[in-house]
Amino acid sequence: MADWPGELRRNPSPASATYAVRGPLARWLEREGTVAAGKRVLDVGCGVKPYYPYFAAAASYVGVDVVVNPAADLLGPVEALPVEDGSFDIVLCNQVLEHCDDPAQAVRELRRVVASGGRVLASTHGVQVYHPAPNDLWRWTHAGLERLFHENGEWAALEVRPGAGTTACLGMLLTHTIELLAGRAHLRPAARPLVWGVNRLAETIDARVESLREPIPGTIFANYHIVAVAPA
Ligand SMILES: C[S@@+](CC[C@H](N)C(=O)[O-])C[C@H]1O[C@@H](n2cnc3c(N)ncnc32)[C@H](O)[C@@H]1O
Repeated sequence: MADWPGELRRNPSPASATYAVRGPLARWLEREGTVAAGKRVLDVGCGVKPYYPYFAAAASYVGVDVVVNPAADLLGPVEALPVEDGSFDIVLCNQVLEHCDDPAQAVRELRRVVASGGRVLASTHGVQVYHPAPNDLWRWTHAGLERLFHENGEWAALEVRPGAGTTACLGMLLTHTIELLAGRAHLRPAARPLVWGVNRLAETIDARVESLREPIPGTIFANYHIVAVAPA
């Protein structure tokens, strides 16, 4: 399924500023997809459904998006999903919450549509450059996301984890700036080795220093992965 759309999301290059977010996100969803056999999957804000190959063993895989999109099976916002209560075992909502008008209502909807014992797998930004799709409205801490989910749904379990470490986050800001400046100077290909080096160095540092990976005072993260389990 290598030719399925979204290869750059599943296997982002370390020579890209998006690597620090997309690399860990893809590996996390790949692991989560190993238990998808026979399950009903809803992909909210599906874009091109880049992570479908990880959930290909599912009984069904339905994509919904707020904008008309040939990959989307249904049209509608995360705040008013056009599906029945409790009708999906796995509900994906990746890199959407920061774009929606009302994140609290979005979480209430994710809770409404997930089946008993099912899992919501969401991800969203801690720190990120402005990237409208079509809007770009919100950023969070891990504590803010925990509060958002607890206040807007009853969960049997809730886990919010940084996708990558503090150095990766700082590296991401640096590499976005490098890409911006290199683009202005028409030197983007020449900047790729520098971006690669920053991303690889950041990964190495974070891997060695646990306190850079844990959400403790003084840390900063680009992205969070959220697992919210509905009561059985
Ligand atoms: C950054 S893209 C992420 C796409 C895909 N989930 C992924 O991870 O590659 C954001 C997606 O959310 C969709 N979106 C934005 N606002 C939305 C909303 N209120 N409800 C549902 N989808 C929304 C956009 O149309 C877009 O497809």
